[in-house]
Amino acid sequence: MRKSYLKFSFPHITQVEINAVVRTLKSGWLTSGEQARLFEEKMAAYTQARHAVAVSSGTAALFLSLLVEGVQPGDEVITTPFTFISTANVIHHLGAKPVFVDIEEDTYNIDPERIKQAISLKTRALLPVHYSGQPCDLRRIMAIARRHKLRVVEDAAHALGAEYSGKKVGGLGNLTCFSMFPTKNITTGEGGVITLNNSHKAQRLRRLRLHGMSKDGWKRYKKEGSWYYEIHEAGYKYNLSDINASLGVVQLGKIDALNDRRTRLARTYQRKLAGIPGIKTLALQPGMKSSWHIFPIYVDADVLGIDRNRLVKELYLRNIGTSVHFIPCHLQPFYQDRYGYRGGDFPVTEKVYSGIVSLPLFPGMVQNDINDVVAAIKDSIP
Ligand SMILES: Cc1ncc(COP(=O)(O)O)c(C=O)c1O
Repeated sequence: MRKSYLKFSFPHITQVEINAVVRTLKSGWLTSGEQARLFEEKMAAYTQARHAVAVSSGTAALFLSLLVEGVQPGDEVITTPFTFISTANVIHHLGAKPVFVDIEEDTYNIDPERIKQAISLKTRALLPVHYSGQPCDLRRIMAIARRHKLRVVEDAAHALGAEYSGKKVGGLGNLTCFSMFPTKNITTGEGGVITLNNSHKAQRLRRLRLHGMSKDGWKRYKKEGSWYYEIHEAGYKYNLSDINASLGVVQLGKIDALNDRRTRLARTYQRKLAGIPGIKTLALQPGMKSSWHIFPIYVDADVLGIDRNRLVKELYLRNIGTSVHFIPCHLQPFYQDRYGYRGGDFPVTEKVYSGIVSLPLFPGMVQNDINDVVAAIKDSIP
């Protein structure tokens, strides 16, 4: 059995990142400044979007994006129940209703056919999530949005570096929200970025992330700055500090290498798990490049002889960490009490949830770690 505990995720931080953060700490400028601007420039260049706006979290990115796309109290926003709770929370916080629709059984992404059925006169926007880093069927989703005059905001928290028909997620024309939470493909500690092509919306996002101040508000303590500012719209405190951004600048320089590593590890998992009846891995669809943020497997308890909860426990006893992505939003008590959702509303999501478990996946893992995970799975089967 494996001697040390294999964490489910571990950030890839080297001396280069540490040096960059220390340089910022010594620079005398800690909040949003040159490093945040540089990080934005590099994010825009990487995703081939015209603008990138750095914020304090992926959640803040989603919230501001929906706001800028005009989501208001009384509106409906269509999204997947198979996501992290912040995707639904931001819709609620804007006073709109999260309208969940079920997922596809093979990709676990939102099902475009079901989106069509959920559109009402109140629908304002679609909020698809690129689950695990495999892009949603954006062409179909965009076509639906155009036909019904809806806005699209992409939750790309998992999908930095993912590609759809050869184009990077983030550069496809919608407001696209990335997360730099520590488990993500790159991290800023905490942080998020919105990429987009519309200059007017980018400017508004920049104001809204810092109280609604004019875009140079942060410069007011510098020699060229001025103490004077005006507020024309009440904003939020969602800016990204230079401490966080300097970490992101270094991490972003490594994104392709980090994602290649994730991809190689994912392929090894796929190969080694292929022979185990009762375990299904996520299949990649044609034209998609996944960023492999997570490696979920689906456990068919009837075939494997052990269910997901038991497998999680057995793996833990064998020093293997795991996680579950995700507890469906509509099963959370708040969403049931507030919006009337019930168990049974989204059968595909609930079936997938009952068997899903994410195995350890991070760039610092070696092939032997994969061997340990696979051996532990085999050993757990009765
Ligand atoms: C699908 C999804 N959306 C949104 C978020 C929110 O990102 P953050 O934690 O940076 O606010 C996360 C992750 O944490 C996520 O997994």
